[in-house]
Amino acid sequence: MSDLFAICSTYEIDDGDARGFVLARLDESGASRPWPILVTRRSNAFYGFENACPHKGVRLDTVPGEFLDEEGNFLSCGVHHARFDLDTGHCFIGPCQGQALTPVKLVIDDGDICLVDVNLAEEDGLDIDDPDAFPEVMIISD
Ligand code: FES
Repeated sequence: MSDLFAICSTYEIDDGDARGFVLARLDESGASRPWPILVTRRSNAFYGFENACPHKGVRLDTVPGEFLDEEGNFLSCGVHHARFDLDTGHCFIGPCQGQALTPVKLVIDDGDICLVDVNLAEEDGLDIDDPDAFPEVMIISD
C-alpha cells in the first residue's frame, strides 16, 4: 500500500485558487532539502506542481499579488512573467513557453489532499499542534 501524507483539506483551497507549501524532502544522500510545491484547484479537481519556474527555477509566488490572476485562470511567475495553466502547469506565454511545471501526484483521501510515496524529511514544515497535547481536565463534583 502507498504511503500518503496529508498536506491540507480540500475545503482550504477554493475553485480557481492556488496555495504554496514548503515541505522538506530527503535527497539521494539522505540530507533534508526544502521542497516548495503548489496545489491548484479547478472545479473539484486538484493539481500538484513543484514550485519552480522552468525558466530559471524560481518560486512562482516570490512576487506577492502576481502569483495568480484575479479570475483564477493561470499562475504567473513574477520574475519574467511566464504564465501557466492552473490544471496542466503548461506554460502558454513567456520565456519558457511550451515547457511545463513539474507535476506532483496528489490523492484525495477522506477530504484531505495527500502526497503519495514521497520521501519527506521529519521536519516537513507543516507542523500542526497535536490536539491531544492539551492536558486533560478532570471535573470533580461535590
Ligand atoms: S524565472 Fe520564471 S519566467 Fe523567468
